[in-house]
Order: sequence, then C-alpha cells, then structure tokens
Amino acid sequence: MTGRPLKQIHLAAHFPGVNNTTVWTDPASRSQIEFSSFRHLAETAERGKFDFFFLAEGLRLREVKGRIHDLDVVGRPESITVLNALAAVTERLGLAATVNATFNEPYELARRLASLDHLSEGRAAWNVVTSSDAFTGENFRRGGYLDRADRYTRAAEFVQLAREFWDADGAPVRHSGPQFDVTGTLSLPRPPQGHPVVIQAGDSEEGREFAASAADVIFSRHSTLEAGQAFHHDVKRRLAAYGRKPDELKIMPGVTFVLGDTDAEAQERAAEIRRAQVSPRTAIAHLEQVWGIDLSDHDPDGPLPTADPVPDSELVQGRTRIGDPLEIAARWRATAAEKKLSSRELVIEVTGRQSFIGSARTVAAQLNEHVQSDAADGFILVPHLTPGGLDDFVDQVVPLLQERGVFRTEYTGSTLREHLGLPVPGQR
Ligand SMILES: Cc1cc2nc3c(=O)[nH]c(=O)nc-3n(C[C@H](O)[C@H](O)[C@H](O)COP(=O)(O)O)c2cc1C
Repeated sequence: MTGRPLKQIHLAAHFPGVNNTTVWTDPASRSQIEFSSFRHLAETAERGKFDFFFLAEGLRLREVKGRIHDLDVVGRPESITVLNALAAVTERLGLAATVNATFNEPYELARRLASLDHLSEGRAAWNVVTSSDAFTGENFRRGGYLDRADRYTRAAEFVQLAREFWDADGAPVRHSGPQFDVTGTLSLPRPPQGHPVVIQAGDSEEGREFAASAADVIFSRHSTLEAGQAFHHDVKRRLAAYGRKPDELKIMPGVTFVLGDTDAEAQERAAEIRRAQVSPRTAIAHLEQVWGIDLSDHDPDGPLPTADPVPDSELVQGRTRIGDPLEIAARWRATAAEKKLSSRELVIEVTGRQSFIGSARTVAAQLNEHVQSDAADGFILVPHLTPGGLDDFVDQVVPLLQERGVFRTEYTGSTLREHLGLPVPGQR
C-alpha cells in the first residue's frame, strides 16, 4: 500500500425504509414510521461511534401503472422532524436529512437546518438532492419544471444563499442572483457548526462539479474497488479549481453487507436475502421499469419478455433514472442467455447485489482495503432490515476496525464536523 499513515474510516447508517433492498418478510422486520424504529437504529449507530445517521427522502409517492408503488404506501415521515426527535435521545451522532433544492426555498430550509443544528448542538447535515425527473415534486411546483442544468445552477445558488443566512448571525441578508432575489434576516444566531454539513448525492457531470464546489461529503453509488477508485480520483481532482484540498470532501458510497459466522454461511444468507428482496412480483416490477410496458401476465420463472422496451414510457414514475432501456434490455438478454437465467433469476443477478459479504473479519478487512486504497473515505451502510439491521455490524465488525486502528473507539469531538475532520467554515 502507500506508506502513509492509516486513513481513518467514516461510517454512517442509512435508515432502511422504502428501499428495494429492505426485506419485509423477515419476522424481525418492524415499522418504518414508529419512533422506536428510528431510535433503535440511531442508538445502535451511536453505540458503534458512527459519524452520522442518514435519512433519504422522496417528495412524491412513486407510481407503477398509475397506482402508488407498494413500498411507498408503507410510509415515510418527514426527515428533519424525525431528526429533531432523535436529537433528544442521542448525544454525539450526526443527523443527516435529504432535502430537495429544486422544490424548497432557501430561507425556510436554512432556518429548519439551523434549528436542527442548534437543538442537536452541532450535529446537523443536509443531503442536497435536485431530483431526476419531472414527475418528482409535481406536488411542490408553482410553475414549470427546471431542466437538468438549471437544477444544479439553482442548487449551487441555494446552498450559497443558505450559507449567507447562517453566516449573517441575525444581521439582514440581501441576495440578488439569477435564481433568487431575497432580502431577510434569519431568526437564529449562526449555527454551532457555522454551516451544517453539506452532502451531495447525484452522479452526473453537473452533480460532481457541484459537489467539488460546495459539498463536504458525497453519497456515491460506486461501491466496487475499481469504480470507487475512479470516482474518488475524478472528484478529488476537481477540488483544486475551487481552492479546496482533497480531504475537505469525504466520499462515502452507499453499501450493503451480509455477515455470517463463516464466509460460506454469509454467501448462503446473501443468496437468501436476494430472493427475499426480489419476490416474483418485484421481479416483474423491475422488468416493467426497463420495458415500460405492462408485464402483469409475464411469467417470472420464464425467459425475459420478447417485446422490445418502450423508451420514455410513463408506466413507472418517480424512480431514479436507470439509463437507456434498449441498451439495458440487450445487456440483460445477453446475461440471461449466457447464464441460463429466468426473468426473476436475471433480476436477482443484475440488481443491487450486496457489496460486502463474509464473516465479520472478512468484511472488516475489505472495508479497510477500500478506504486505504482510496476507493472511499468511508461508507453509508444500508442494512436490509428495519430497525435491527445494523446490530451485528456494530457488535462484530466495528470492534475489528477499532483493533486495526482505523476507526475511533470513542468520539473525540462533539459536532459532526469534528467527527468528519472538517473545519468550521470562516464567517464571511
Ligand atoms: C446514492 C444516491 C442516493 C440518492 N438519494 C436520494 C434521495 O434519497 N432522495 C432524492 O430525492 N434523490 C436522491 N438521489 C438522487 C438525487 O436526487 C440527484 O439529485 C438526482 O440523481 C439528479 O442528479 P444527477 O443528474 O446528478 O444524478 C440519490 C442519488 C444517489 C447517487
């Protein structure tokens, strides 16, 4: 490896709510609305000395064939409200909310985040997302939809304006820019962290540039070693243009994991979990997302549909865009033919395979290898079970990382910026 001192790993806990990775058929699966669930996962993360707890957000219920997607009916409380409640039952854990910059307003959001930062004594973070399609956020809009480039222009000015409000420390702010023309005084003093930590999650060219200019943390999708290294290299090299140093932006891919007493047992469990995650109905829903046509009569245990996908179909609404359907279908057909897979087996094969599988020792070694070889600075762990999905990781993997000297044994700071090794920004 590199001869430099060991990098310290950063860890965050993603609450497993309305994700296609959550297993609801497990007898230990519990509510994703009740406070006890949020509390359990947050307390487990804090027991494990994690950097932060993370909540995703969907602005509009997803739809399949004009009906609300099954998972969304189960529900998802508003993120900042949940985090304010968690602030009262945790002491050190960072609290990160995903909030959309396309459909919210800077003054109002700066105020809510400053409130969370004050109530939690410096533990607030904001995951700035911009939305990927026109369907999302229709319930928020006054007028038309922002196209892709404008969404990031707005997000950049949104973050800049929020920071002006935080810096003003109760003085009036006058901001006049292409996206916002605002005069106002924030009703709170400067937040304890100066600025709540800013996270970015979006993978386009514009998204990466926005992260390099304005974010403290990136929630990325690149969880394999090679893809992680390429992403890490690409984003860190963009920082210099903004006068920033490489360690001022932490890259934390979202990753899944399966533990077992042995590597073989973990592999077996992983296969079981994949089958539970991709039920016959879920397999059909995945195919419909690519094919854009109603496949309710398609046999999940038979071959892939023979029809060609319909591009730009509105059959499935509100899912993150996945790429060119014709290209994906061609790739899936080739894989299914090569490995002799049914439709369901193919979906199990190509979607959301677990990132780290093995005994605690194997998983600890792999996580560490990714960080020491600059494929990541840490991880946002996405368990498959609500709310107990992090218990084994904290009991079994965290002590091994601590033994290796790559993860804290106690919190040394009290704010999220301190956990992440980020300076308090100077006041402008
Ligand atoms: C790992 C990851 C997690 C994301 N989580 C959310 C989320 O919880 N809510 C949301 O509205 N968007 C989420 N997004 C998508 C963002 O909305 C992003 O702004 C969108 O993909 C458009 O940006 P892009 O074109 O740069 O990818 C996520 C994206 C990534 C990569």
